[in-house]
Amino acid sequence: MPTAFPRWLRAAVACCSTLAAVSAGTVLAQPAAASSAAPGAVAQYPDYSPTPPMGWNDWSYYQCGIDEKTILGNAQALVTTGLARKGYDTVTIDDCWMSQQRDAKGDLVANPALFPDGMAYVGQQLHKLGLKFGIYEDAGTSTCGGYPGSLDHWQQDADLFASWDVDYVKLDGCNVPTKAGETDEQSYRDTYTAMSRALLNTRRHIVFSISAPAYFQGAANWDSVIGWSAQLGNLWREGADIALGQDPDKWSSIDYNYSYNVGLTALQRPGRWNDPDFLLAGDSGLSQDEIQSQVSLWAMMAAPLISSTDLTHLSPTALAVLGNRDVIAVDQDRLGIQGSVVQHGAGYDVLSKPLADGDRAVALFNSSDSAQTISTTAAQAGLPVAGGYKLDDLVSKTATNTTGVIAAGVPPHATVLYRVHPTADHGPAPATAISWRDVSTPQLPGTYQITLTDNGTVPLTDGRLQISAPAGWTVAPDTVALPRVAPGGTASATVTVRGPQGAPGTTVTTITATASYRAHSSKVDTVSGEQTIVQTVPYPSLAAAFNDVGATDESDTTPGNFDGGGDSYSSQALAKAGATAGATISANGLSFTWPAAAAGANDNVSATGQEITFSGQGQALGFLGAEAGFTSGTVTVTYTDGTASTGQLGFPNWCCAPTDAYGAKTAFTTDHRNTPSGPANYGTSYGVFTNTVPLTPGKTVRSVTLPDAPAIHVFALTVQP
Ligand code: GLA
Repeated sequence: MPTAFPRWLRAAVACCSTLAAVSAGTVLAQPAAASSAAPGAVAQYPDYSPTPPMGWNDWSYYQCGIDEKTILGNAQALVTTGLARKGYDTVTIDDCWMSQQRDAKGDLVANPALFPDGMAYVGQQLHKLGLKFGIYEDAGTSTCGGYPGSLDHWQQDADLFASWDVDYVKLDGCNVPTKAGETDEQSYRDTYTAMSRALLNTRRHIVFSISAPAYFQGAANWDSVIGWSAQLGNLWREGADIALGQDPDKWSSIDYNYSYNVGLTALQRPGRWNDPDFLLAGDSGLSQDEIQSQVSLWAMMAAPLISSTDLTHLSPTALAVLGNRDVIAVDQDRLGIQGSVVQHGAGYDVLSKPLADGDRAVALFNSSDSAQTISTTAAQAGLPVAGGYKLDDLVSKTATNTTGVIAAGVPPHATVLYRVHPTADHGPAPATAISWRDVSTPQLPGTYQITLTDNGTVPLTDGRLQISAPAGWTVAPDTVALPRVAPGGTASATVTVRGPQGAPGTTVTTITATASYRAHSSKVDTVSGEQTIVQTVPYPSLAAAFNDVGATDESDTTPGNFDGGGDSYSSQALAKAGATAGATISANGLSFTWPAAAAGANDNVSATGQEITFSGQGQALGFLGAEAGFTSGTVTVTYTDGTASTGQLGFPNWCCAPTDAYGAKTAFTTDHRNTPSGPANYGTSYGVFTNTVPLTPGKTVRSVTLPDAPAIHVFALTVQP
């Protein structure tokens, strides 16, 4: 059944194709100057949030699973954890707080089952805790969750919110109808203008969060919508929703929201904030480096710091990351300038943000999957010429000095955040960095040069390098004495790293080099730098890479997960079409063997870049499969002579796309599928398809690397002679 995407999700999906256009460092055009001068333009909405808003919102973690207890429990946690004192002071109740219908007077009504004491009471409790009260509504006919929208009830809803002592309104943009004779943008602008005026009319100081730009992400008028949003409110969501608490891949969502927000520096001004959505610190599925990166990058971008996790069970680590006063101070700096990318390289960005006292915050962000040393200079970061610079690492709380180079070894997905103060004060220890360089040759594999650099003003003596590796790995030598390093100089050592043959699949290993040395005090200082070693061992066969459940038995549909949503092929329906364990499937000039795994066992491969050992010679490589996500990807074929070729592989969606999409052909169809609640036929059949990727004539295949596109499922491989 074709899925009807809610509008917000369509906006998010549409946006993603523009990622390249909004790559790091891209500065988009200024909003049309006309926005403020347009006919009927309202006065600039008051500056109710001179620094980026901070607080908590329930949506990402709870979605519609909220009630009075959840909200007040998290509010209480804001206070007891000390986060409220540090600025996280606004609690916003997102979608699903309402009843389905307005009351007889046309007023919005809180769902009595969820909020039996009503919203005014919730507001009072929040205020008693010293917090502010935020609420969600929508500028359309209904909210994204289907509850009554504010369209044509502007003043009534604004007055109601004011009567509840609301301090912050997030106005979403689902279901905004386009009026006859107007463009989409005009209709959005009208609705948001109406609410902006209505909020002003209440005379209550209500921070206004606008979602309109999120519905134009990637469109030519995106920046124009942001332009008038900055006129009508205090902050705006301008792009895709951040991952939900239960989503498996949160890091790519954080990285994506960073990537679209970082290019919008020119559209932000003090008191008018780009909002790349919630902070996920506290959620599962993110490393400490990743949650730290999000908070540090959001602070660099002067983004709202709005946590959306279960604060009642916050780990000490997540609390420390959210509550880091020095990082919060970067975000809340009264200059109110969004930091911008001053250097961009392979898998990294350097951002710089001017601060009110003349310091700059400088972030070294490693967006890649491997550790790397990121190096910039004070000049590149926009600092004035000075006799030296003090680097305060805002996370490790160490202070060092540099004559100008700002460098650090940064683990994958991590961000090193400095506050840089121009000063000739050489009090603190010299800034140093470790870098790794792979100098392997076929004769000497696994050989690396490790370099210690002194960026300070005093020499390093008594230097020692120690390299540590996980069990099973050896480093030779693992301890090296280093010569004296002069200021601005380096000392290097060469080591050989060997590891065990990993299991089939991809194994990532981290080797850490730590240098210890003395500078101008008797104290021993240390600095570390990592090397990430990625080993890929081919699976012996496609069957060995089985990792998903594509078919279930109708008596037990629970394990099915072909589409990521718990739906699968039905074994019974497959059998009717001739696809039973070990059966030969002949179609479109290709012949395959259907996988032998029992229904409900892992029985097909969700393509995530696995390398599969495979042998054969012929015109083309044949694939039997289907997909559930509208995507294609690159297959790499490696030959026995070490050369490689590539081809594109895609299959039509199993139910809902033209059956020749991506050049595929139908192998066979089944008449129903299994859903978590049993077999179902939504008036369509469920297909399995063939497709091919060309081979280099005369060469023998050694292995096949599947696309990194998990929606693509591969049931069998063959060679077309
Ligand atoms: C949209 C918004 C989210 C959340 C939901 C509620 O997706 O972007 O932040 O408010 O609606 O339905």
